[in-house]
Amino acid sequence: MRQAQSQLQSQAFFAWMETIQADMEKTLDACLPSSTELPSRLHQAMRYAVLGGGKRVRPLLVFAAGDLFDAKPALLAACAAALEMIHVYSLVHDDMPCMDDDALRRGKPTVHVQYDEATALLVGDALQAQAFLTLSSNLSEGDANAVDGLAMLRVLAQAAGSGGMCGGQAIDLDSVGVQLSQQELERMHRLKTGALLRASVLLGAMSGKNLSTIEIIALDAYADAIGLAFQVVDDVLDVTADSTMLGKTAGKDAQNNKPTYVSILGLEPSIVLAEKLRQDAHQALMPFGNKAQRLRELADFVVQRKA
Ligand code: IPE
Ligand code: IPE
Ligand code: MG
Ligand code: MG
Ligand code: MG
Repeated sequence: MRQAQSQLQSQAFFAWMETIQADMEKTLDACLPSSTELPSRLHQAMRYAVLGGGKRVRPLLVFAAGDLFDAKPALLAACAAALEMIHVYSLVHDDMPCMDDDALRRGKPTVHVQYDEATALLVGDALQAQAFLTLSSNLSEGDANAVDGLAMLRVLAQAAGSGGMCGGQAIDLDSVGVQLSQQELERMHRLKTGALLRASVLLGAMSGKNLSTIEIIALDAYADAIGLAFQVVDDVLDVTADSTMLGKTAGKDAQNNKPTYVSILGLEPSIVLAEKLRQDAHQALMPFGNKAQRLRELADFVVQRKA
């Protein structure tokens, strides 16, 4: 099935994706403290974690959702950088020995391996603060009248905290060796991964205008579908892809006795579920018509990616 779908994204989509990825590299470089600034080892480690890797899916979602309402690129860039910094912080902590204990991330040694555990902890802490600094600075300098900046900060905080990513990570850790029901697994996935993806969609759209309830409902339905799909595919790839392709150690979920979609539903049903969620995501975008093309293709990308 995956092969039959391999043509879904257009060349224009991939060209757009590469442009955003290259632009993000420059934005993130500018948003992070210089490695010569004291404490330089911490700043070096922050830059090591953030720069030069990753698919930048959250930034891509921000820009694609921003397209819907002709949002200003500078504010989108700030939202995208903030989300990517929170995401990277979550990866740095996720890889630490007290969590998943991984040595490879984005094709490089993880931060605690390259530096040390205390530095990895501080990199995560500092990236989280830097994310809020980046977004809030751009809100106060930007067009604060047209967008609800405080609401945007709340969306980011909610998605990052115990009601979002951190909460999902806590459930993940509590669930090692536990047989979760599909409903419990879904809840964990929606929090640990879905929350930041949802925030990416919402912040992109909110950068353009104050959203109506109908728009929020449609975007939420889209984000919900791709948020879950993203982690289902992550679980599938842990089993089907190799470490070189992934840039992280394959097979770790089974090794760490993690409940995943593959361990609970099986491989093929997980692939089928991801495809259904891709279709749900498309369905949710119907009210936006052609303007949602990028978001549509991003849903395809999330499900069809090989890494
Ligand atoms: C990996 O995220 C961790 C999950 C939330 C599943 P990504 O697959 O987006 O990782 P990068 O950013 O491309 O490295
Ligand atoms: C991590 O999920 C989600 C985060 C909040 C970082 P995983 O533990 O499955 O992510 P990978 O597979 O290590 O990237
Ligand atoms: Mg984990
Ligand atoms: Mg992990
Ligand atoms: Mg994983």
